[in-house]
Amino acid sequence: MPVSKKRLAVVTGGNRGLGFETSRQLAAKGLKVVLTSRDPKKGKLAAQTLSQEGLDVVSYPLDITDSESMCSLVIQLQRDFGRVDVLVNNAAVLLDTTVKNHYDERDFGPGEGSVLTVTRSTMEETMSVNVYGPLLLSQLIVPMMKDLKYGRIVNVSSNFGQLSNIAGQWPAYRISKVALNAVTGVFADEIKGYNILINSADPGWAKTDMGGPGAPLAPEEAVDTIVWLSTLPDDGPSGKFFRKRRVIAW
Ligand SMILES: NC(=O)c1ccc[n+]([C@@H]2O[C@H](COP(=O)([O-])OP(=O)(O)OC[C@H]3O[C@@H](n4cnc5c(N)ncnc54)[C@H](OP(=O)(O)O)[C@@H]3O)[C@@H](O)[C@H]2O)c1
Repeated sequence: MPVSKKRLAVVTGGNRGLGFETSRQLAAKGLKVVLTSRDPKKGKLAAQTLSQEGLDVVSYPLDITDSESMCSLVIQLQRDFGRVDVLVNNAAVLLDTTVKNHYDERDFGPGEGSVLTVTRSTMEETMSVNVYGPLLLSQLIVPMMKDLKYGRIVNVSSNFGQLSNIAGQWPAYRISKVALNAVTGVFADEIKGYNILINSADPGWAKTDMGGPGAPLAPEEAVDTIVWLSTLPDDGPSGKFFRKRRVIAW
């Protein structure tokens, strides 16, 4: 099995938004980046754009709701590189944007969603992408990191995932990000002693398809904490939640 010398970062949902910008900034720091995308064509296009900037980025397909897709990615990573140093669990969905009638699924138009009407399908799809995806992918990649005695995992969370500040609306998204933060804590405790650091990051409200054009932050600024946590030194923190490079309350 070839073991490449360069540190290798895997970014989920790398074809657009914060995943794309994280891929760019990690590659600019000298890492090789595997930008993953559930649509292989979009992934290829995104990786080509970054390669044209002189960055070392390749794209591999990955749908994080599909266990087979996850397993084949990990097999390919083993085969092609023999290592994964950094995992950025970035891909997510925000499905609470329409208010649906709980009984007949009629769409009542744009809104923020309500816990009083959120459907089982919205909850299940959101949890599948935003929580089970990062958990199961980390589960597959941690053994490679243990072999390396090095690993940095960043779970891209949100201020909506801050349990100490929880509020109404956007129920599926909020609940999923609180759960993702729990994933960070549980992993951090179980992987102690292997030089694998796992943390949650709140990027802030950023101009992407998810954040919308009215968001105050450019993606370039929003990914700063994600990139910083991806490249922490060995004595860096683990099992914490960060915004603007500072620890925040869960
Ligand atoms: N933007 C903000 O203001 C903001 C604020 C706080 C936190 N965040 C968090 O930051 C992260 C990135 O958000 P963003 O604003 O860049 O969102 P975005 O522009 O909507 O991009 C989301 C990415 O996730 C991918 N994705 C969705 N479902 C997937 C699946 N099943 N398998 C693989 N990839 C999947 C999308 O792929 P497709 O292109 O195929 O759909 C896309 O690449 C998310 O975790 C989000 O919750 C964002």
